[in-house]
Amino acid sequence: MDINKVIIPAAGLGTRFLPWTKAVPKEMLPLLDKPAIQYIIEECLTSQITNFSIVNSKSKQALESHFDSNTNLELILKERNKTNLIASTEKIFRHANFTYVRQTEPLGLGHAIWTARNTIGKEYFGVILPDELFFAKNPGIKQLIDIARQERASVIAVQEVPMNSVSSYGIIGIKKQITPKLFQVSQLIEKPKQKEAPSNLAIIGRYVLSHKLFNSLEKITPYATEELQLTDGINHMLKHGEKVFAYKIQGSRYDIGKPIGWIKAIIGRALQDQRYAPALREYLKDLDASHSFLYDNDQNLIKPLPKKP
Ligand code: UTP
Repeated sequence: MDINKVIIPAAGLGTRFLPWTKAVPKEMLPLLDKPAIQYIIEECLTSQITNFSIVNSKSKQALESHFDSNTNLELILKERNKTNLIASTEKIFRHANFTYVRQTEPLGLGHAIWTARNTIGKEYFGVILPDELFFAKNPGIKQLIDIARQERASVIAVQEVPMNSVSSYGIIGIKKQITPKLFQVSQLIEKPKQKEAPSNLAIIGRYVLSHKLFNSLEKITPYATEELQLTDGINHMLKHGEKVFAYKIQGSRYDIGKPIGWIKAIIGRALQDQRYAPALREYLKDLDASHSFLYDNDQNLIKPLPKKP
């Protein structure tokens, strides 16, 4: 089973991150030295996926520019012998193919995926939400692709969440547990109340889906209120005999769609990165100390100049 295309829906309003997202796409939020979306593309390239359909909106031009060549900058960096500074985007530029499709109105995640239907043939394809970053030795999307090939069916990435936070997620109902990490799905419920949740297995922004999803999305469009949900499209496939699995992927996940998740991602990643970890550890240690500048208004980070004799 060939899976070599990923749809990245990036046309949402990003209201949880306003006013930052008023003019700058959420997907361009910096995480250490790269924008969030670059981590998604790198996760895919490591998984041998090279074709990307990015669903964007009018205000997301920066996304296209980031993965385009910038001849002026390249020339200057070459002259200064500093091309290594953009080596990671150069690599993407050489290996990845981007198709951009425009979602003219934010009519929901299901609608965003449907907008990219013409970039996908009669095949299985990946979907990754760019505000859900995932770090693992074996990339998140690769873990799903392996299961999709094994089961010859759609697969959704899940992780366990505390029961009292299920109402923030899409939650899966379990038809059958196949292994400790693999489940056959009975239904998906978007943001259920705790007492109505069929499990604590939350959908975490990665999917491998059958092209039959597009047909399902079309069928349910007339009944959609306000937004067309991806979960409703997958539920329609399930009701019409399509098998869908859920797989507990292994790794660290960060929801950077809201400021606190983004802050956690920066600290989490920086502590894993030798370029930043020692200085950050030192800084965090200092925050707890009674002599920290945060606790003492008279003490300043910038030391006063010594008095002249
Ligand atoms: P989210 O609901 O997490 O993101 O959608 P959002 O709508 O941008 O942000 P909030 O909720 O207002 O803060 C998940 C992903 O689906 C995309 C978003 O860009 C995000 O990456 N999306 C959502 C679309 O592309 N189109 C839509 O109509 C809705």
